[in-house]
Amino acid sequence: PRPEPFRVPLPLPRRLTPTRGPNGTDRLEVEQREADVEILPGLRTRIWGYDGTFPGPAFVARADRRTDLVVRNTLPVPTSTHLHGGVTPPGSDGHPTDLVLPEGDSAADWGPRGSHSGHASHHGGTDGWTFHEGERTYEYPLRQRAATLWYHDHRMDFSAPQVWRGLAGFFLLSDAEEEALPLPREERDVPLMLTDRSFEEDGSFRYPSLDPSLTGEPGVRDAYHSGVLGDIQLVNGAPWPVLEVTATRYRLRLLNASNARRYRLALERDGARAARFTQIGSDAGLLEKPLTHETLTLAPGERFDVVVDFSRFPAGSAVDLVNELGGDTDGMGRVMRFRVARRAKDDSRVPAVLSAPERIARRQSVASRRFDFRLTNEDGGHALWTVNGRPFSLDGTWARPRLDTVELWALSSDFHHPVHLHMAHFKVVSRSGRAPAATDAGWKDTVDVRPYETVEVLVRFAGHRGRYMVHCHNLEHEDMAMMANFDVV
Ligand code: C2O
Ligand code: CU
Repeated sequence: PRPEPFRVPLPLPRRLTPTRGPNGTDRLEVEQREADVEILPGLRTRIWGYDGTFPGPAFVARADRRTDLVVRNTLPVPTSTHLHGGVTPPGSDGHPTDLVLPEGDSAADWGPRGSHSGHASHHGGTDGWTFHEGERTYEYPLRQRAATLWYHDHRMDFSAPQVWRGLAGFFLLSDAEEEALPLPREERDVPLMLTDRSFEEDGSFRYPSLDPSLTGEPGVRDAYHSGVLGDIQLVNGAPWPVLEVTATRYRLRLLNASNARRYRLALERDGARAARFTQIGSDAGLLEKPLTHETLTLAPGERFDVVVDFSRFPAGSAVDLVNELGGDTDGMGRVMRFRVARRAKDDSRVPAVLSAPERIARRQSVASRRFDFRLTNEDGGHALWTVNGRPFSLDGTWARPRLDTVELWALSSDFHHPVHLHMAHFKVVSRSGRAPAATDAGWKDTVDVRPYETVEVLVRFAGHRGRYMVHCHNLEHEDMAMMANFDVV
Protein backbone atom coordinates (compact mmCIF):
# COMPACT_ATOMS: atom_id res chain seq x y z
CA PRO A 1 0.00 0.00 0.00
CA ARG A 2 1.59 3.26 -1.13
CA PRO A 3 -0.39 6.43 -0.51
CA GLU A 4 -0.17 9.40 -2.85
CA PRO A 5 2.31 11.92 -1.42
CA PHE A 6 1.20 15.30 -0.11
CA ARG A 7 -2.49 14.44 0.36
CA VAL A 8 -2.68 13.75 4.09
CA PRO A 9 -2.65 16.89 6.27
CA LEU A 10 0.22 16.97 8.77
CA PRO A 11 -1.12 15.84 12.16
CA LEU A 12 0.07 17.81 15.17
CA PRO A 13 0.60 15.86 18.38
CA ARG A 14 -1.79 16.85 21.16
CA ARG A 15 0.02 19.21 23.54
CA LEU A 16 -0.22 18.18 27.16
CA THR A 17 0.72 20.57 29.95
CA PRO A 18 1.23 19.40 33.52
CA THR A 19 -1.36 19.64 36.24
CA ARG A 20 -0.32 20.68 39.74
CA GLY A 21 0.19 17.53 41.80
CA PRO A 22 -0.67 17.12 45.50
CA ASN A 23 2.89 17.91 46.65
CA GLY A 24 3.14 21.08 44.55
CA THR A 25 5.11 19.44 41.77
CA ASP A 26 4.00 19.43 38.16
CA ARG A 27 2.42 16.19 37.06
CA LEU A 28 1.93 14.49 33.71
CA GLU A 29 0.12 11.23 33.18
CA VAL A 30 0.16 8.87 30.27
CA GLU A 31 -1.04 5.37 29.51
CA GLN A 32 0.76 3.03 27.15
CA ARG A 33 -1.85 1.12 25.24
CA GLU A 34 -2.79 -0.54 22.00
CA ALA A 35 -4.96 1.35 19.53
CA ASP A 36 -6.12 0.99 15.94
CA VAL A 37 -5.41 4.15 14.00
CA GLU A 38 -5.52 5.26 10.38
CA ILE A 39 -1.99 5.88 9.09
CA LEU A 40 -2.48 4.80 5.49
CA PRO A 41 -5.73 6.20 4.05
CA GLY A 42 -8.53 3.62 4.34
CA LEU A 43 -6.54 1.09 6.42
CA ARG A 44 -6.20 0.43 10.13
CA THR A 45 -2.86 -0.02 11.87
CA ARG A 46 -2.55 -1.54 15.34
CA ILE A 47 -0.10 0.65 17.25
CA TRP A 48 1.42 0.68 20.72
CA GLY A 49 1.17 4.30 21.73
CA TYR A 50 1.43 6.66 24.67
CA ASP A 51 -2.27 7.43 25.24
CA GLY A 52 -2.89 5.26 22.19
CA THR A 53 -1.42 7.79 19.73
CA PHE A 54 1.64 7.83 17.47
CA PRO A 55 3.45 10.10 18.10
CA GLY A 56 2.48 10.25 21.77
CA PRO A 57 1.30 13.52 23.29
CA ALA A 58 3.77 16.42 23.13
CA PHE A 59 4.47 17.20 26.77
CA VAL A 60 5.06 20.90 27.34
CA ALA A 61 7.10 21.49 30.48
CA ARG A 62 9.06 24.28 32.18
CA ALA A 63 12.73 24.13 32.97
CA ASP A 64 13.47 24.14 36.71
CA ARG A 65 10.03 22.87 37.66
CA ARG A 66 10.17 19.36 38.96
CA THR A 67 7.78 17.33 36.86
CA ASP A 68 6.51 13.84 37.61
CA LEU A 69 5.53 11.63 34.72
CA VAL A 70 3.18 8.82 35.72
CA VAL A 71 3.26 5.97 33.21
CA ARG A 72 0.66 3.23 33.22
CA ASN A 73 1.34 0.15 31.11
CA THR A 74 -1.59 -1.78 29.65
CA LEU A 75 0.47 -3.30 26.83
CA PRO A 76 1.18 -7.05 26.83
CA VAL A 77 4.94 -6.49 27.40
CA PRO A 78 7.18 -4.58 29.82
CA THR A 79 8.33 -1.06 28.96
CA SER A 80 10.88 1.48 30.10
CA THR A 81 10.44 5.16 29.28
CA HIS A 82 13.55 7.26 28.69
CA LEU A 83 13.46 11.06 28.46
CA HIS A 84 16.08 11.53 25.73
CA GLY A 85 18.16 14.62 26.49
CA GLY A 86 16.84 14.87 30.04
CA VAL A 87 19.21 15.53 32.95
CA THR A 88 17.47 12.94 35.05
CA PRO A 89 18.44 11.10 38.26
CA PRO A 90 19.42 7.49 37.54
CA GLY A 91 16.34 5.94 39.13
CA SER A 92 14.07 7.80 36.71
CA ASP A 93 16.28 7.65 33.63
CA GLY A 94 14.55 4.72 31.99
CA HIS A 95 17.42 2.26 32.15
CA PRO A 96 16.62 -0.76 29.93
CA THR A 97 16.33 -3.12 32.89
CA ASP A 98 14.16 -0.81 35.01
CA LEU A 99 10.82 -2.04 33.75
CA VAL A 100 7.14 -1.25 34.09
CA LEU A 101 5.39 -4.61 33.81
CA PRO A 102 2.07 -5.14 32.10
CA GLU A 103 -0.81 -4.45 34.45
CA GLY A 104 -1.61 -7.59 36.44
CA ASP A 105 1.79 -9.27 35.86
CA SER A 106 4.41 -9.81 38.54
CA ALA A 107 8.18 -9.90 38.53
CA ALA A 108 8.05 -13.70 38.62
CA ASP A 109 6.59 -13.62 35.11
CA TRP A 110 9.25 -11.33 33.67
CA GLY A 111 12.36 -11.51 35.85
CA PRO A 112 15.58 -12.86 34.42
CA ARG A 113 14.49 -16.27 35.70
CA GLY A 114 10.86 -15.80 34.68
CA SER A 115 9.24 -17.73 31.90
CA HIS A 116 9.48 -14.94 29.33
CA SER A 117 13.12 -14.14 29.68
CA GLY A 118 15.41 -17.12 29.35
CA HIS A 119 17.49 -14.95 27.03
CA ALA A 120 18.23 -12.42 29.75
CA SER A 121 21.02 -14.55 31.16
CA HIS A 122 23.57 -13.24 28.68
CA HIS A 123 23.23 -9.81 30.26
CA GLY A 124 24.83 -11.05 33.43
CA GLY A 125 22.58 -12.69 35.97
CA THR A 126 19.76 -11.35 38.09
CA ASP A 127 21.27 -8.22 39.59
CA GLY A 128 20.36 -4.86 38.22
CA TRP A 129 16.79 -5.57 37.16
CA THR A 130 13.98 -3.54 38.70
CA PHE A 131 10.28 -4.15 38.20
CA HIS A 132 7.29 -1.89 38.76
CA GLU A 133 3.93 -3.58 38.52
CA GLY A 134 1.60 -1.85 36.06
CA GLU A 135 2.54 1.73 36.81
CA ARG A 136 5.34 3.98 37.98
CA THR A 137 6.32 7.62 38.39
CA TYR A 138 9.40 9.07 36.74
CA GLU A 139 10.75 12.17 38.51
CA TYR A 140 12.23 14.83 36.26
CA PRO A 141 13.93 17.79 37.99
CA LEU A 142 14.39 19.46 34.55
CA ARG A 143 17.29 21.57 35.82
CA GLN A 144 18.46 22.31 32.29
CA ARG A 145 17.96 24.77 29.45
CA ALA A 146 14.94 24.98 27.16
CA ALA A 147 15.26 22.29 24.50
CA THR A 148 13.38 19.95 22.20
CA LEU A 149 13.58 16.66 24.07
CA TRP A 150 11.75 13.46 23.27
CA TYR A 151 10.72 10.32 25.10
CA HIS A 152 10.61 6.77 23.87
CA ASP A 153 10.65 3.16 24.91
CA HIS A 154 13.96 1.69 26.13
CA ARG A 155 13.11 -1.91 27.10
CA MET A 156 16.14 -4.19 27.15
CA ASP A 157 16.53 -6.04 23.82
CA PHE A 158 13.17 -4.78 22.49
CA SER A 159 13.46 -0.99 22.08
CA ALA A 160 13.55 -1.16 18.28
CA PRO A 161 10.28 -3.07 17.70
CA GLN A 162 8.50 -1.18 20.52
CA VAL A 163 9.45 2.23 19.14
CA TRP A 164 8.54 1.00 15.62
CA ARG A 165 5.04 0.22 16.93
CA GLY A 166 4.69 3.81 18.07
CA LEU A 167 6.22 4.38 21.53
CA ALA A 168 7.79 7.82 20.98
CA GLY A 169 6.77 11.45 21.56
CA PHE A 170 8.04 15.00 21.99
CA PHE A 171 8.89 16.62 25.31
CA LEU A 172 9.13 20.38 24.75
CA LEU A 173 10.98 22.15 27.51
CA SER A 174 10.75 25.95 27.69
CA ASP A 175 12.33 28.57 29.94
CA ALA A 176 12.18 32.35 30.47
CA GLU A 177 15.19 33.04 28.26
CA GLU A 178 13.61 31.30 25.30
CA GLU A 179 10.17 32.82 25.86
CA ALA A 180 11.62 36.32 25.76
CA LEU A 181 12.86 35.78 22.19
CA PRO A 182 10.70 36.96 19.26
CA LEU A 183 10.74 33.53 17.60
CA PRO A 184 7.72 32.14 15.72
CA ARG A 185 5.26 30.63 18.19
CA GLU A 186 1.92 28.85 18.58
CA GLU A 187 0.78 27.39 15.24
CA ARG A 188 4.07 28.60 13.72
CA ASP A 189 6.11 26.44 16.12
CA VAL A 190 5.79 22.96 14.63
CA PRO A 191 7.33 19.73 15.96
CA LEU A 192 8.16 17.31 13.13
CA MET A 193 8.91 13.70 14.05
CA LEU A 194 10.50 11.86 11.14
CA THR A 195 10.12 8.08 11.05
CA ASP A 196 10.13 5.55 8.24
CA ARG A 197 7.91 2.47 8.45
CA SER A 198 6.86 -0.50 6.33
CA PHE A 199 3.39 -1.98 6.21
CA GLU A 200 1.69 -5.23 5.28
CA GLU A 201 -1.14 -5.22 2.74
CA ASP A 202 -3.73 -5.08 5.54
CA GLY A 203 -2.18 -1.92 7.01
CA SER A 204 -0.36 -3.54 9.94
CA PHE A 205 3.26 -2.59 10.62
CA ARG A 206 5.86 -4.84 9.03
CA TYR A 207 8.96 -5.50 11.15
CA PRO A 208 11.32 -8.53 10.95
CA SER A 209 11.21 -9.62 14.62
CA LEU A 210 12.33 -13.17 15.37
CA ASP A 211 9.37 -13.39 17.74
CA PRO A 212 6.65 -10.86 16.88
CA SER A 213 4.95 -11.33 20.27
CA LEU A 214 8.06 -9.62 21.76
CA THR A 215 7.89 -12.00 24.72
CA GLY A 216 10.47 -14.58 23.65
CA GLU A 217 13.65 -14.36 21.65
CA PRO A 218 14.70 -10.76 20.91
CA GLY A 219 16.25 -9.47 17.72
CA VAL A 220 15.63 -9.35 14.00
CA ARG A 221 16.30 -11.74 11.16
CA ASP A 222 19.96 -11.78 10.05
CA ALA A 223 19.44 -9.73 6.91
CA TYR A 224 18.43 -6.78 9.10
CA HIS A 225 21.25 -6.64 11.61
CA SER A 226 22.50 -3.33 10.16
CA GLY A 227 19.16 -1.74 10.99
CA VAL A 228 15.58 -1.78 9.76
CA LEU A 229 14.54 0.76 7.12
CA GLY A 230 10.96 1.43 6.06
CA ASP A 231 9.72 2.23 2.57
CA ILE A 232 7.09 4.79 3.60
CA GLN A 233 8.12 8.14 5.06
CA LEU A 234 6.03 9.37 7.97
CA VAL A 235 6.05 12.78 9.62
CA ASN A 236 4.16 12.92 12.93
CA GLY A 237 2.81 9.50 12.01
CA ALA A 238 1.37 10.48 8.60
CA PRO A 239 2.70 9.40 5.18
CA TRP A 240 4.32 12.20 3.12
CA PRO A 241 2.01 14.82 4.67
CA VAL A 242 1.33 18.40 3.63
CA LEU A 243 1.17 21.44 5.92
CA GLU A 244 -0.54 24.61 4.82
CA VAL A 245 1.54 27.61 5.91
CA THR A 246 1.29 31.38 5.57
CA ALA A 247 4.11 33.29 3.85
CA THR A 248 5.84 33.90 7.19
CA ARG A 249 8.57 32.42 9.35
CA TYR A 250 8.03 29.03 10.98
CA ARG A 251 9.97 27.31 13.71
CA LEU A 252 10.39 23.63 12.88
CA ARG A 253 11.60 21.24 15.56
CA LEU A 254 13.06 18.40 13.54
CA LEU A 255 13.51 15.05 15.27
CA ASN A 256 14.86 11.93 13.64
CA ALA A 257 12.97 9.24 15.57
CA SER A 258 13.64 6.58 12.91
CA ASN A 259 15.15 3.28 13.98
CA ALA A 260 18.07 3.35 11.54
CA ARG A 261 17.49 5.91 8.75
CA ARG A 262 19.68 8.97 8.30
CA TYR A 263 18.41 12.09 6.53
CA ARG A 264 20.09 14.91 4.63
CA LEU A 265 17.27 17.43 4.54
CA ALA A 266 16.91 20.25 2.04
CA LEU A 267 14.06 22.55 0.96
CA GLU A 268 13.14 22.43 -2.71
CA ARG A 269 10.67 24.05 -5.06
CA ASP A 270 10.16 22.44 -8.46
CA GLY A 271 13.14 20.21 -7.81
CA ALA A 272 15.63 23.01 -7.07
CA ARG A 273 16.95 24.23 -3.71
CA ALA A 274 14.63 27.01 -2.67
CA ALA A 275 15.26 27.99 0.96
CA ARG A 276 17.74 27.56 3.75
CA PHE A 277 17.42 26.45 7.34
CA THR A 278 18.28 28.97 10.03
CA GLN A 279 19.37 26.78 12.91
CA ILE A 280 18.52 28.21 16.33
CA GLY A 281 18.94 25.15 18.50
CA SER A 282 20.65 21.77 18.76
CA ASP A 283 19.78 18.66 20.81
CA ALA A 284 20.29 20.32 24.18
CA GLY A 285 19.04 23.87 23.62
CA LEU A 286 19.44 27.21 21.88
CA LEU A 287 22.65 28.09 20.08
CA GLU A 288 24.55 31.21 20.99
CA LYS A 289 23.93 32.64 17.51
CA PRO A 290 21.83 31.42 14.60
CA LEU A 291 23.54 29.49 11.80
CA THR A 292 22.31 28.97 8.27
CA HIS A 293 22.53 25.66 6.44
CA GLU A 294 21.67 24.52 2.90
CA THR A 295 21.21 20.98 4.19
CA LEU A 296 20.89 19.30 7.57
CA THR A 297 22.07 15.78 8.28
CA LEU A 298 20.15 14.01 11.05
CA ALA A 299 21.15 10.68 12.50
CA PRO A 300 18.66 8.72 14.63
CA GLY A 301 18.04 10.53 17.92
CA GLU A 302 19.24 13.97 16.78
CA ARG A 303 17.14 17.16 16.84
CA PHE A 304 17.53 20.42 14.96
CA ASP A 305 15.55 23.49 15.92
CA VAL A 306 15.31 25.68 12.81
CA VAL A 307 13.43 28.66 11.41
CA VAL A 308 12.31 28.62 7.77
CA ASP A 309 11.12 31.81 6.10
CA PHE A 310 8.34 31.24 3.58
CA SER A 311 7.78 34.97 2.95
CA ARG A 312 9.37 35.09 -0.49
CA PHE A 313 7.14 32.37 -1.93
CA PRO A 314 4.01 33.44 -3.80
CA ALA A 315 0.67 32.08 -2.60
CA GLY A 316 0.06 28.66 -4.07
CA SER A 317 3.71 27.55 -4.10
CA ALA A 318 4.73 24.14 -2.90
CA VAL A 319 7.98 23.89 -0.92
CA ASP A 320 9.16 20.34 -0.33
CA LEU A 321 11.25 18.98 2.49
CA VAL A 322 13.39 16.33 0.80
CA ASN A 323 15.84 13.69 2.00
CA GLU A 324 18.89 13.66 -0.25
CA LEU A 325 19.96 10.31 1.24
CA GLY A 326 16.63 8.62 0.50
CA GLY A 327 16.86 8.48 -3.26
CA ASP A 328 17.76 4.79 -3.54
CA THR A 329 14.33 3.66 -2.34
CA ASP A 330 11.28 4.68 -4.33
CA GLY A 331 9.61 7.71 -2.75
CA MET A 332 12.02 8.00 0.17
CA GLY A 333 13.70 11.06 -1.33
CA ARG A 334 10.62 13.01 -0.24
CA VAL A 335 9.60 13.84 3.30
CA MET A 336 6.71 16.33 3.30
CA ARG A 337 5.34 19.44 1.57
CA PHE A 338 4.61 22.96 2.77
CA ARG A 339 1.89 24.66 0.75
CA VAL A 340 2.08 28.44 1.01
CA ALA A 341 -1.54 29.56 1.24
CA ARG A 342 -1.46 33.35 1.64
CA ARG A 343 0.43 36.33 3.00
CA ALA A 344 0.07 37.16 6.67
CA LYS A 345 1.45 39.51 9.28
CA ASP A 346 4.68 38.32 10.88
CA ASP A 347 6.10 39.83 14.08
CA SER A 348 8.66 37.12 14.53
CA ARG A 349 12.36 37.41 13.84
CA VAL A 350 15.53 35.53 14.58
CA PRO A 351 17.72 37.70 16.82
CA ALA A 352 21.47 37.83 16.17
CA VAL A 353 22.12 36.59 19.72
CA LEU A 354 19.89 33.81 21.01
CA SER A 355 21.35 32.61 24.23
CA ALA A 356 24.43 32.41 26.42
CA PRO A 357 25.13 28.70 26.74
CA GLU A 358 28.03 27.58 28.87
CA ARG A 359 31.35 27.51 27.03
CA ILE A 360 33.77 24.67 27.40
CA ALA A 361 37.44 24.21 26.43
CA ARG A 362 39.67 21.21 25.86
CA ARG A 363 42.00 22.28 28.68
CA GLN A 364 39.17 21.67 31.19
CA SER A 365 39.26 17.97 30.39
CA VAL A 366 40.49 15.81 33.28
CA ALA A 367 40.44 12.44 31.47
CA SER A 368 40.47 11.04 27.94
CA ARG A 369 38.67 7.86 27.01
CA ARG A 370 37.97 5.98 23.82
CA PHE A 371 34.76 4.20 22.90
CA ASP A 372 35.00 2.06 19.80
CA PHE A 373 31.70 1.07 18.18
CA ARG A 374 32.19 -2.02 16.08
CA LEU A 375 30.82 -5.33 14.84
CA THR A 376 32.67 -8.10 16.69
CA ASN A 377 32.55 -11.81 16.19
CA GLU A 378 31.94 -13.80 19.32
CA ASP A 379 33.59 -17.17 19.85
CA GLY A 380 30.59 -19.02 18.48
CA GLY A 381 30.83 -17.05 15.23
CA HIS A 382 27.85 -14.97 16.32
CA ALA A 383 28.00 -11.33 15.17
CA LEU A 384 27.49 -8.71 17.88
CA TRP A 385 27.54 -4.94 17.91
CA THR A 386 29.96 -3.99 20.65
CA VAL A 387 31.51 -1.04 22.50
CA ASN A 388 35.26 -1.51 23.04
CA GLY A 389 34.92 -5.12 21.97
CA ARG A 390 32.33 -6.04 24.64
CA PRO A 391 28.61 -6.52 24.24
CA PHE A 392 26.46 -4.84 26.88
CA SER A 393 26.36 -6.53 30.25
CA LEU A 394 24.58 -5.50 33.40
CA ASP A 395 27.38 -6.10 35.82
CA GLY A 396 30.05 -4.07 34.10
CA THR A 397 30.90 -0.42 33.76
CA TRP A 398 32.90 1.11 30.94
CA ALA A 399 33.89 4.37 32.68
CA ARG A 400 33.67 6.19 36.01
CA PRO A 401 33.70 9.93 35.32
CA ARG A 402 33.49 12.31 38.29
CA LEU A 403 30.51 14.56 38.83
CA ASP A 404 31.10 18.17 37.72
CA THR A 405 34.12 17.38 35.59
CA VAL A 406 34.77 17.52 31.86
CA GLU A 407 36.24 14.62 29.89
CA LEU A 408 37.37 14.19 26.30
CA TRP A 409 35.77 11.14 24.71
CA ALA A 410 36.90 9.78 21.35
CA LEU A 411 34.11 7.87 19.58
CA SER A 412 35.30 5.64 16.76
CA SER A 413 33.36 3.40 14.47
CA ASP A 414 33.22 0.89 11.62
CA PHE A 415 29.78 1.97 10.35
CA HIS A 416 27.21 4.76 10.82
CA HIS A 417 26.67 4.76 14.57
CA PRO A 418 24.68 7.63 16.10
CA VAL A 419 26.18 7.76 19.59
CA HIS A 420 23.99 8.98 22.45
CA LEU A 421 24.88 9.66 26.07
CA HIS A 422 22.29 9.67 28.79
CA MET A 423 22.27 12.61 31.25
CA ALA A 424 25.56 14.22 30.13
CA HIS A 425 25.59 16.76 27.31
CA PHE A 426 28.62 17.40 25.12
CA LYS A 427 30.16 19.50 22.38
CA VAL A 428 31.77 18.08 19.26
CA VAL A 429 35.38 19.28 19.00
CA SER A 430 36.80 17.33 16.04
CA ARG A 431 36.07 14.77 13.34
CA SER A 432 39.07 12.58 12.48
CA GLY A 433 41.41 15.42 13.40
CA ARG A 434 39.53 18.02 11.39
CA ALA A 435 37.12 20.72 12.46
CA PRO A 436 33.60 19.55 13.26
CA ALA A 437 30.82 19.93 10.68
CA ALA A 438 28.79 23.16 10.73
CA THR A 439 25.79 21.08 11.85
CA ASP A 440 27.72 19.77 14.90
CA ALA A 441 27.32 23.17 16.61
CA GLY A 442 25.84 23.61 20.05
CA TRP A 443 25.35 21.38 23.06
CA LYS A 444 24.29 17.91 22.03
CA ASP A 445 23.38 14.49 23.38
CA THR A 446 23.65 12.49 20.15
CA VAL A 447 26.32 12.64 17.45
CA ASP A 448 26.43 11.10 14.00
CA VAL A 449 29.63 9.01 13.99
CA ARG A 450 30.33 7.99 10.40
CA PRO A 451 32.20 4.91 9.12
CA TYR A 452 35.89 4.79 10.07
CA GLU A 453 35.70 8.18 11.72
CA THR A 454 36.84 9.27 15.17
CA VAL A 455 34.71 12.01 16.66
CA GLU A 456 36.04 13.80 19.73
CA VAL A 457 33.48 15.21 22.13
CA LEU A 458 33.96 17.21 25.33
CA VAL A 459 31.47 15.84 27.83
CA ARG A 460 30.31 17.75 30.90
CA PHE A 461 29.17 15.41 33.68
CA ALA A 462 26.82 17.80 35.48
CA GLY A 463 23.60 16.85 37.17
CA HIS A 464 23.53 13.56 39.03
CA ARG A 465 25.70 10.70 40.23
CA GLY A 466 24.82 7.16 39.31
CA ARG A 467 24.55 4.70 36.47
CA TYR A 468 23.91 5.95 32.95
CA MET A 469 24.63 4.68 29.50
CA VAL A 470 26.29 5.52 26.24
CA HIS A 471 24.91 3.62 23.27
CA CYS A 472 24.30 3.49 19.57
CA HIS A 473 20.91 5.02 18.67
CA ASN A 474 20.47 2.83 15.64
CA LEU A 475 17.80 0.94 17.57
CA GLU A 476 18.61 -2.44 16.04
CA HIS A 477 22.28 -2.02 17.03
CA GLU A 478 21.16 -0.96 20.50
CA ASP A 479 19.03 -4.08 20.87
CA MET A 480 21.99 -6.15 19.68
CA ALA A 481 24.04 -5.07 22.71
CA MET A 482 25.73 -1.86 21.45
CA MET A 483 25.37 -0.17 24.82
CA ALA A 484 27.77 0.54 27.66
CA ASN A 485 27.20 1.62 31.23
CA PHE A 486 29.09 4.51 32.76
CA ASP A 487 28.92 5.50 36.41
CA VAL A 488 29.11 9.13 37.42
CA VAL A 489 30.88 9.11 40.80
CU1 C2O B 1 16.99 8.01 22.82
CU2 C2O B 1 19.15 5.63 25.42
O1 C2O B 1 18.04 6.75 24.10
CU1 CU C 1 25.23 1.52 15.56
